[in-house]
Amino acid sequence: MNQELWTSVDHYFEGALIKPDDALRHAEKTALDEQIPPISVSPALGKFLHLMVKISGAQRILEIGTLAGYSTLWMAKALPGQGKIITLEKNRKCAQIAQLNIDYADYGEKIELMLGTATDSLKTLIAQNTAPFDLIFIDADKENNTKYLELCLQLSRKGTVIIADNIVRNADILDNKTTDKSTKGVIEFNARLAREKNISAVALQTVGIKGYDGFAVILVEDNDARQ
Ligand code: SAH
Ligand code: DHB
Ligand code: MG
Repeated sequence: MNQELWTSVDHYFEGALIKPDDALRHAEKTALDEQIPPISVSPALGKFLHLMVKISGAQRILEIGTLAGYSTLWMAKALPGQGKIITLEKNRKCAQIAQLNIDYADYGEKIELMLGTATDSLKTLIAQNTAPFDLIFIDADKENNTKYLELCLQLSRKGTVIIADNIVRNADILDNKTTDKSTKGVIEFNARLAREKNISAVALQTVGIKGYDGFAVILVEDNDARQ
């Protein structure tokens, strides 16, 4: 198996089955034109998030790590009329481009972008007694993944679905002597998932245009983290 083959298979499914719309293609193009790093979810993972929103019936979504808004738009497209997404981004340039992409898609009402570090924004949301989210997508700096999980549990209820991206990282997570901060963050996060009592979770490996990686799907079973 190789990257070329994974890319070909992703392309085989993309046009016929996954079908990113004009707003999604626009978001991809502006990210490329503005030299935003090519680290958004693949079209296939975007469509998976979209389906998860529909399957779970989510109306309140939280996203940590907006980049150019590609994953945000996939999820927004699945929301019912009154649904809302709050997406957190610390990089001003990314936030500006994401906002343009959100406006182009005409989702200004549905998507609220919070500029700032995710930890600060999550603490603000907790302090504001924000109603629990139905679905949460964790996809920012991997170093802080465990902290994000802890804060997200405080913004969850029984039945909240949390999806965390990039938890395999080309199998780097098997190297417990790694000095890479992101990989260390993911290793700590995975260990925390395994220990956490109030959740039920699975880790799925993926290959495709973004290489070899994976994501976790976490169901909050019971939540005594929220006071
Ligand atoms: N979810 C996006 C990709 C996100 S990439 C998509 O699939 O389309 C990760 C993003 O997290 C980057 O835009 C980066 O600027 C942002 N980020 C990194 N550290 C952060 C932090 N501490 N707080 C908030 N955002 C952060
Ligand atoms: C990185 C972040 C991501 O969310 C991703 O999907 C791939 C790479 C990164 O920071 O390198
Ligand atoms: Mg990611």
